[in-house]
Amino acid sequence: MVSPTISDAIRTMPKAELHLHIEGTLEPELAYELADRNNIQLPFSGLDDLRQRYKFTNLQSFLDLYYQLMSVLRTADDFRDLVLAYMAKANEAGVVRSEIFFDPQVHVENGLDIDTVLDGLLSGMILGRERYGISSGLIPCIVRDKPVESAAQIVESLAHRSDELLGLGLDSAELGYPPQLFSDVFDRARDLGLHLVAHAGEEGPADYVKQAIYDLKVERIDHGIRSVEDLELLEILKERNIPLTCCPLSNLKLQVVNKLSELPLQQLITSGVQLTINSDDPAYFGGYIADNFDALADIGFTLSQLARMGENSLRAAFWGETERDNMLKQFALWEQSHQALLQ
Ligand code: HPA
Ligand code: ZN
Repeated sequence: MVSPTISDAIRTMPKAELHLHIEGTLEPELAYELADRNNIQLPFSGLDDLRQRYKFTNLQSFLDLYYQLMSVLRTADDFRDLVLAYMAKANEAGVVRSEIFFDPQVHVENGLDIDTVLDGLLSGMILGRERYGISSGLIPCIVRDKPVESAAQIVESLAHRSDELLGLGLDSAELGYPPQLFSDVFDRARDLGLHLVAHAGEEGPADYVKQAIYDLKVERIDHGIRSVEDLELLEILKERNIPLTCCPLSNLKLQVVNKLSELPLQQLITSGVQLTINSDDPAYFGGYIADNFDALADIGFTLSQLARMGENSLRAAFWGETERDNMLKQFALWEQSHQALLQ
């Protein structure tokens, strides 16, 4: 187990969370609270029964529960409360910037108005800034196992509020849904002035990472760990300075690897790829962002290696230069005060 000193250092290190699905922060207790508030009957016999179901064999087995539980989110207040619960946890983990994913197609199919979703999320983000000083941005994700027309429609329905969004992402079941299917949708998002990211190389092959870079023109890759299977791709990621947003506990829980030491993180670092550490869906995968850093410390990553990943996250975030420079200064102060541990 990681020592209390290292664990404290991890939690005070200023960091950006760049791969976080807000629906994946829905803890079972809050799911029940929202279900009660909205008179929704969940198909479980109670909290304990629900907790028993947090055992996954692959991405799809997780997505089934994740989409099912999203049905408790009905009002703007629900989305606000979800964001606030996350912000409190993120604050304890030293998060100073969070770029938050959500799945608008699912909420619209559940009968919600897109503006209800946006209003709720954005009001939670404003309160998060006021209460904890956390800067944040919103990245709607295309649910890639839904039809391409649905993706195009949701981007059009978000267009009138594109100035309140940070970017566009691509998530959900990866295998069989290559990024290139969505090149027109991503072109449109770029025209709207959005940053572009995509999940690729989580369960899917390195070629999907290449497609995300060449066909979707993304600026970051979410997961991307299977990039190690293609040396040319490693060179591209390094040359173009395209960071990966890695999520170790997610990869473990979804059985992408059998143990954390199987993750090719050292190999990616040695290849010159910029890695960041993130929590993905912390309520489902057994830990928030600092727990992911702890898990890497447990398998032998030094605090200075973890610090590089923290610094990478501040550099890879889509924020203004002034905000980034201020936070890099805060990061340098953290380094100074932890010099003895960083040797
Ligand atoms: N991968 C793909 N889709 C997702 C994930 C993920 O890790 N989390 C939530 N939606
Ligand atoms: Zn994800």
